[in-house]
Amino acid sequence: MEQLKNKILSEGRVLGDQVLKVDSFLNHRIDPALMSAIGDTFAALFAEEGVTQVLTLESSGIAPAMMTALRLRVPLIFARKRKSLTLKDDMWTEKAYSFTKQEESEVSVSRQFLHPADRVLIVDDFLANGQAALALARIVAQAGATVAGIGIVIEKSFQSGRATLLEAGFRVESLARVASLSEGRVTFAE
Ligand code: G4P
Repeated sequence: MEQLKNKILSEGRVLGDQVLKVDSFLNHRIDPALMSAIGDTFAALFAEEGVTQVLTLESSGIAPAMMTALRLRVPLIFARKRKSLTLKDDMWTEKAYSFTKQEESEVSVSRQFLHPADRVLIVDDFLANGQAALALARIVAQAGATVAGIGIVIEKSFQSGRATLLEAGFRVESLARVASLSEGRVTFAE
């Protein structure tokens, strides 16, 4: 998606050779026009998948997922990251280990909102090692529902996430694929 790649090139900041900071339009301040275009693009890519719900993880996944759900005319669910062990009975819960943050978190979705007939599009802002998307996919499986696909705004193609998700059998669509962040420069995979 050219508009997104241009935004990354003009406003993204490279930290070390592993992390791309995009606080000015995705992770802190949000560019609504760009999110709207992202929603259009995901909705077109997954138009034939019979999506009944979009699922993301709080907090930065919510903006692009919201615009996607709006375009697909389906609800958006955001999984909660919670440390608390209360109210577990009425939640689907999975653990996700973050290599970026070196911490494990629990992600939860109320059982009220996911059903076996659902075809769920998972949307997230970043794909690094794929652990967040996998945890969401396990929640979908717990509910007896089906993953219709996984939409990623920015994929770090030099990390293992895409391979992990493809191996698990999912369709993965990334709007910008970053091949390298070495020497402070962003290079795209295609
Ligand atoms: P994974 O799910 O693909 O395995 O990724 P990982 O756990 O390593 O990522 C943990 C968090 O770090 C996620 O945000 C993810 O979006 C973010 N992240 C990973 N790599 C980058 C990067 O290069 N740049 C930026 N800006 N973020 C990155 P999170 O903890 O869910 O935070 P948030 O959604 O509350 O913002």
